[in-house]
Amino acid sequence: MESFVYHMPTEIRFGPGSEDGAAELVRKYGGRRVLVVYGGGSAVKSGLIGRLTAQLEAGGLTAVPFGGAQPNPRLAHAREGAALARAQDVDFILAVGGGSAIDTAKAIAHGTANPGVELWDFWLGKAALTRTTPVGVVLTIPAAGSETSDSAVLTNGDAKRGLNSSFNRPVFAILDPRLAATLPKFQVACGVTDILMHTLDRYFNPVSDNETTDALAEALLRTVLRNGPAALENPGNLHAMSELMWCGSLSHNGLTGLGGKKDFAVHQLGHAISAKYDVAHGVSLSAVWPAWARYVAGSDGFRRFAQFARQVWAVDEAGDEAAARLGIERQTAFFRSLGMPVSLPELGFGVLTEGDLADLAARCSYGHSRTIGSFRVLDEAAM
Ligand code: NZQ
Ligand code: ZN
Repeated sequence: MESFVYHMPTEIRFGPGSEDGAAELVRKYGGRRVLVVYGGGSAVKSGLIGRLTAQLEAGGLTAVPFGGAQPNPRLAHAREGAALARAQDVDFILAVGGGSAIDTAKAIAHGTANPGVELWDFWLGKAALTRTTPVGVVLTIPAAGSETSDSAVLTNGDAKRGLNSSFNRPVFAILDPRLAATLPKFQVACGVTDILMHTLDRYFNPVSDNETTDALAEALLRTVLRNGPAALENPGNLHAMSELMWCGSLSHNGLTGLGGKKDFAVHQLGHAISAKYDVAHGVSLSAVWPAWARYVAGSDGFRRFAQFARQVWAVDEAGDEAAARLGIERQTAFFRSLGMPVSLPELGFGVLTEGDLADLAARCSYGHSRTIGSFRVLDEAAM
């Protein structure tokens, strides 16, 4: 096990009815004038934005609405939000939605607190983030885990990049599984995939003597595999959606990778794909994982993949290589059963040309300047 620091300060309010605590939490964390950041309208249609606005105003707070965050959220939109927040003297950002609204809110929070800095420079590593504005979250889709993560992912032109910083942790997250009951099946499938991938991208790493973290990761994966299909079948299934929502937060707040070395190669490849083709995040991950798994499985003599197969998929094969291959097959079949693509051609852009693949690899390597992964380090040719 490697040394680690774990500080997860986000206050979590979980359960049906927890949305009712939003105004109290905003006040608790010092908010008075609140920018309410949401997406393309699902939260307006469901009545959630109306209820939250009324709740904030009844609590003596001022709500400033800012909708329009789109999936794979854009830097330009966040810049607009930060300008509005400064003009309105906002001191708190409330994200209502999923990863796209939350990451937009995080970017707005950084922009509001750092008016003289070009926002994208934080993502490029050219400027250091030393302060931000508090962000709270009302979650409507279990998926990205941004409600407790230290990450914010934005798209600027043809680049999609993540920024990791402790300043990205929201001060609170309201996890009310009833709010996810209106999700379209496709979004549930994307969410299940992303939740699994946040743990898988940590689980496959070169540190092998990490019993507690491995056991936590395996339990989370089994829980999502059990409850994901039930939530897909009926997003109103409160038990299944509750498990999924809780797993979504635990899967990306760092817990399932403590003491290990994050790999995240599949996420990095997925970001290049989403930047080029504007596909949903979950789709970009399931399309890559099977090929990635087959490619890297042999690098530790199949041992790690065999552990995954036995602990997560109850594969009963004595030989490591046979068990590993069966585990990869079962995981791939699971993604397929959700209706997710499991290869690049299934993304719907046909068979990609060598030129397309080279372009994706150039994006993923940040213009030939980095490798990705830790379980097996991938250079640009491997990408
Ligand atoms: O925009 P609206 O109209 O709200 O509709 C959304 C959107 O179309 C809809 N939706 C959300 N909740 C709903 C609902 N529809 C009906 N009922 C509800 N209750 O679902 C669609 C997807 O929403 P989005 O926020 O884009 O989904 P998700 O949570 O999957 O977020 C994806 C974004 O998060 C990033 C991804 O790259 C992507 O940009 N990620 C952020 C991470 C982080 N900050 O830690 C980590 C992840 O790995 C990921 O990269
Ligand atoms: Zn993800």
